Amino acid sequence: MTTEKDIEELNARLSNSEPKDIISQVSELWPNLAISFSGAEDVALIEIASKLIDKPAIFTLDTGRLHAQTYEFIESVRRHYELRIETLHPDPRQLSQLILNKGLFSFYEDGHEECCSIRKVEPLRNKLATVDAWITGQRRDQSPTRVEVPIVQFDRSFSSPEHPVVKVNPLANWSSKDVWNYIRMFDVPYNKLHDAGFISIGCEPCTRAVGPNQHEREGRWWWEEATIKECGLHRGNIED
Ligand code: ADX
Ligand code: SF4
Repeated sequence: MTTEKDIEELNARLSNSEPKDIISQVSELWPNLAISFSGAEDVALIEIASKLIDKPAIFTLDTGRLHAQTYEFIESVRRHYELRIETLHPDPRQLSQLILNKGLFSFYEDGHEECCSIRKVEPLRNKLATVDAWITGQRRDQSPTRVEVPIVQFDRSFSSPEHPVVKVNPLANWSSKDVWNYIRMFDVPYNKLHDAGFISIGCEPCTRAVGPNQHEREGRWWWEEATIKECGLHRGNIED
């Protein structure tokens, strides 16, 4: 059984390690792990993992509100790496209730939490109940809410006493520039929306391109306050 102390020590040991060494070590410790895939960072992780692990498990949260370009991107990654990508979907009854009660754009009026909870958080919770660890592409310089993201942590939002879940952030030390240097060096597929000024890409109604010198998170949920801008996948960043 992994203890808090084990995680702290592992985190300290890996704090300056390369992403490939981090993935290699955590995949030995928790072979039942999965990579959560949505953006540029995650394909860099897939590129790294596919060189270290035979058929790494990959999932993506298909909220039903993604851009057409994002679906094309998911397909291009599937073909490029010849890997299976599991798409996770919202519960149709919960979704239908939300839309019946509040319509399709309630997030502009009462915040993104409720919609994200149904379309992302609950499907993720169901998935994480089946794995011991998940790998994310979070970076510390990505958002004011992520400046303290560790390399390895217990995921308090999705763990239960019976089933602890470890969260691994191998790119925590990387900058956006590091990610894009890597993508170009290895000719990694990327979402074509990046060529149109998008940096951080989520659902279509909640994402927009950013201008010169704007921070990447300014293109996400732009009608909300930056310091609380987490959708629930990484709620622990605010709560911790
Ligand atoms: S979000 O919480 O604000 O949407 P962000 O887009 O910055 O997250 O992505 C950070 C990490 O969360 C990604 O690298 C990925 O690991 C995970 N993630 C975000 N969105 C998804 C998604 N739709 N499917 C799977 N993983 C996701
Ligand atoms: Fe809903 Fe927007 Fe969250 Fe997507 S990002 S799940 S559309 S609130």
